[in-house]
Amino acid sequence: MYSALLKEIKLVLDKNPATQVGLDWVCAQIQQNLPQYDWVGFYFHHPKKEELHLKAFAGKPTDHTVIPFGKGICGQVAVSNQNFVVDDVSEQDNYIACSIDVKSEIVIPLFINGKNVGQIDIDSNTPKAFGEKDAHFLEEVNTLVSAFLLRTNAQF
Ligand code: SME
Repeated sequence: MYSALLKEIKLVLDKNPATQVGLDWVCAQIQQNLPQYDWVGFYFHHPKKEELHLKAFAGKPTDHTVIPFGKGICGQVAVSNQNFVVDDVSEQDNYIACSIDVKSEIVIPLFINGKNVGQIDIDSNTPKAFGEKDAHFLEEVNTLVSAFLLRTNAQF
């Protein structure tokens, strides 16, 4: 499933859709095809402020469309530049709950020319939903999205 999805994402992004259209489509495609991926979103760093801004998502709307650096799992990834996999969100002190249904989460930073500019964030209603294969898959998704954003000269 992962490799078929990656192929499809590459095919669609290679057509250089508008930034918003491309990001919305990637979120929807992943969320609809991977059963444990209940919420999928892209946050990007604000150009001037130390904040993450939600740019695209699939799943239930969230109140957390702006997250300060350092806050929650997402805010921690904005400063650590590292993947963050959470098997059980109830065990995290620095966590922002988007829904009481969420049990596990994975956040993978997105780099453009080596600079951390945002992240893909996935929530699951299943505990311990994400492993190495998911991290690898999402790194590949981010590589494709990064090239797309660079090619289309996306501005946030
Ligand atoms: N749980 C995240 C907040 C974003 S929601 O998952 C959509 C966090 O702790 O940063």
